[in-house]
Amino acid sequence: MADSQVSEKTVTLTDNSTGKSVTLPVRAGTIGPDVIDISKLYAETGMFTFDPGYGATGSCVSGLTYIDGEEGILLHRGYAIEDLAEKSDFLEVAYLLLDGDLPTAEEKAAFDTAITRHTMVHEQLSIFLRGFRRDAHPMAILCGVTGALSAFYHDSTDIHDPQQRMIASRRLIAKMPTLAAMAYKYSLGQPFNYPRNNLSYAENFLYMCFAVPAEEYVVDPILADAMDKILILHADHEQNASTSTVRLAGSSGANPFACIAAGIASLWGPAHGGANEAVLNMLNEIGHKKNIPEYIEKARDRDDPFRLFGFGHRVYKNFDPRAKVLRKACHDVLGKLGIHDPLLELAMELEKIAIEDSYFIEKKLYPNVDFYSGIILKAMGFPTSMFTVLFAVARTTGWIAQWNEMIKDPAQRIGRPRQLYTGPEQRAFVDLAKR
Ligand code: SDX
Repeated sequence: MADSQVSEKTVTLTDNSTGKSVTLPVRAGTIGPDVIDISKLYAETGMFTFDPGYGATGSCVSGLTYIDGEEGILLHRGYAIEDLAEKSDFLEVAYLLLDGDLPTAEEKAAFDTAITRHTMVHEQLSIFLRGFRRDAHPMAILCGVTGALSAFYHDSTDIHDPQQRMIASRRLIAKMPTLAAMAYKYSLGQPFNYPRNNLSYAENFLYMCFAVPAEEYVVDPILADAMDKILILHADHEQNASTSTVRLAGSSGANPFACIAAGIASLWGPAHGGANEAVLNMLNEIGHKKNIPEYIEKARDRDDPFRLFGFGHRVYKNFDPRAKVLRKACHDVLGKLGIHDPLLELAMELEKIAIEDSYFIEKKLYPNVDFYSGIILKAMGFPTSMFTVLFAVARTTGWIAQWNEMIKDPAQRIGRPRQLYTGPEQRAFVDLAKR
């Protein structure tokens, strides 16, 4: 568990209407901004803090992921995302997030085997999944089926038992690709593929999505490598909306399957993980680079709700380092596959124009992780409706690592924010006959 030190520093707030002051301790982490510990503020001042969207609020102590938004830095347990994307594979990053250190060769082999052996799902789940309409959005299916896992794996829902937490964590990491592939196959009217224990995590996912019983399917190593890289880049990202949802759900003691289902629901929003699907739809709507200025103008117009999907970030006020890796991967994958996708050229032109636009420079809006991922996923054969599903498959590892860190934190208690009340003062009830 990451530890933070109470530094010698303090901050004093003075209420200038009463002259009353309160001194609050400052806590320092390993790197990054210090925090003002306000846990005693209400008791000492009778006032709450107010920070809608939590833009300046730290919700927890964590040692998993560090982001420097100004410099465009992303570290997982101290390792730079660029190194992890280049030199490790997804299950190695999963081990790192869960355990705290990169695995030895022996530890990695054991972890890979443990995850591989959990990739099958209860046979009744395939019947449960068939209750959805064929045209159901795969995120709707994934959200529903993941919540249902607690009905099938009730023997790993006791959050106070470390053994059950470990089994539930491995089940979720291992079964998410299988469930995602089943949701995809179901939408196609094709039979489900069982996972294959001789394939890697990324290879298995591609196999389950694209193999058909009528012929042998050989996983293309180019696609497997690209998929593994995409999973690494989406694994974890500090206290984003869906991770905070998982932590808040978990703080009440809810079982891990219910918490991850809550995270999937939050990720689905187009302002968050749903943006990758929205980027492709936006690029298709723009259609040609001659239309880009019109859309930049719409994005600049505060009265127009249109946002340039794939741009901007609550934390990054520089390039999202994941977008840089994905931009390069786009060129590599499409080049190796011999695919000429005009949407990639359109995206590159849009990026070039946007980052030179005064509004985007002033607001510090740069491409984020969602801007390029969809182009690669489209080249791999996935429909846009599956893009956020893939994000959820990867982020399940981050959510589970964050959930485990929270459960093991001795200071953990139920999350319960307060509010600034602006409703009516107390008033007398008026009988219906007199209204
Ligand atoms: C992800 O939090 C994470 O870590 C998320 C994520 C992860 O890995 O978990 O990184 C994944 O969700 C990436 C973001 C994907 N979403 C999109 O691409 C949707 C488009 N982006 C915007 O909706 C927006 O940028 C957000 C939601 C990402 C961030 O919203 P904020 O924090 O409210 O944006 P901001 O405060 O930095 O915005 C500053 C200004 C605002 O204008 P003003 O109120 O100051 O006038 O910039 C404007 C915003 O309206 N703005 C945009 C814009 N993004 C922000 N204007 C036009 N187009 C945009 N894309």
